[in-house]
Amino acid sequence: MAIEFDRIPRKSLSALLRTMPKAELHVHIEGSLEPELIFALAQRNGVALPYADVETLRAAYAFTDLQSFLDLYYAGAAVLRKEEDFFDLAWAYFERAAADNVVHAEIFFDPQTHTARGVPIEAVIVGLEHACRRAHAEFGLSAKLILCFLRHLSEESAFGTLQQALPYRHHFIGVGLDSGERGNPPEKFARVFAKCRELGLHVVAHAGEEGPPAYIESALDVLKVERIDHGVRCVESPALVQRLAALRMPLTVCPLSNVKLCVFKSLAEHNLATLLDAGLCATVNSDDPAYFGGYINENFVQTFDALPALHARHAWQLAANSFEASFADAAHKTQWLQQLDAAFAKAAAQG
Ligand code: HPA
Ligand code: ZN
Repeated sequence: MAIEFDRIPRKSLSALLRTMPKAELHVHIEGSLEPELIFALAQRNGVALPYADVETLRAAYAFTDLQSFLDLYYAGAAVLRKEEDFFDLAWAYFERAAADNVVHAEIFFDPQTHTARGVPIEAVIVGLEHACRRAHAEFGLSAKLILCFLRHLSEESAFGTLQQALPYRHHFIGVGLDSGERGNPPEKFARVFAKCRELGLHVVAHAGEEGPPAYIESALDVLKVERIDHGVRCVESPALVQRLAALRMPLTVCPLSNVKLCVFKSLAEHNLATLLDAGLCATVNSDDPAYFGGYINENFVQTFDALPALHARHAWQLAANSFEASFADAAHKTQWLQQLDAAFAKAAAQG
């Protein structure tokens, strides 16, 4: 039965955005490291911090672009040393994600940030994977890991990281590409991604956040990605928008991140409604929630509050897109879509 979206009043939209089942496909686990946990782990591991307290650290979260954020993000991650630290980090994220009705999460992690400090890759992957298993057991939340290569580092470093990770191949479902986009085009990682595809890993890449539409094109053509992370600059090329729409190529959009990193001046100027109305498979995600002012539900609610062009139909579409764009199996996708339809049908019936 068709859902009567027009019967859902705008005033019930916030509650529906919060309660609807959803998948999160773009969250960097190191970006969910809250200042309180940074201080707790610094104390546990005897790491000195250049900030007096949580408030002073939080006050430093004023970014002018991607790089100004990355500098703090890598500094914060330095408190992560042991397997239990990675478990605690991911567990804190899962508690918040479950509260936001995330039923499935595909989580990025950056091994090079940690191995460069002498942390064994095993501590990173095993700690995170343990939290994923517990999230499934306690919350019924299916959680998967995606290993990201840092694009400001060399191809050789990426190959070395892949090699180190291979004994834990069964613990991650894919690879991604993150860190500073400008001057680090997808082509730099053509051979590593080819190897990853050969290994049967899923492949995704950040592109078109600060980088030009040409980076989205080379992520598709050279890396042969299955999703584009961010991708919001695609609108600068109408031909590319058409291509992405025809492919149903998912874009994992992160509205609060885009505003914090000055990709858009404000949420009111965000192009999410334009992307959806162009038929793109856009999704909403939190990126680095501890740094950007909110987890996934804050992204949904604040964006819908700021953009009057977004209606109940778009809310349903965004959640449906998140399931379609996930790497989950067809049976789970069908089940989550049924739950989504039920939530919207109930809201429409209540009027
Ligand atoms: N872009 C690129 N790299 C990142 C990001 C991002 O938004 N967050 C963490 N690493
Ligand atoms: Zn990101």
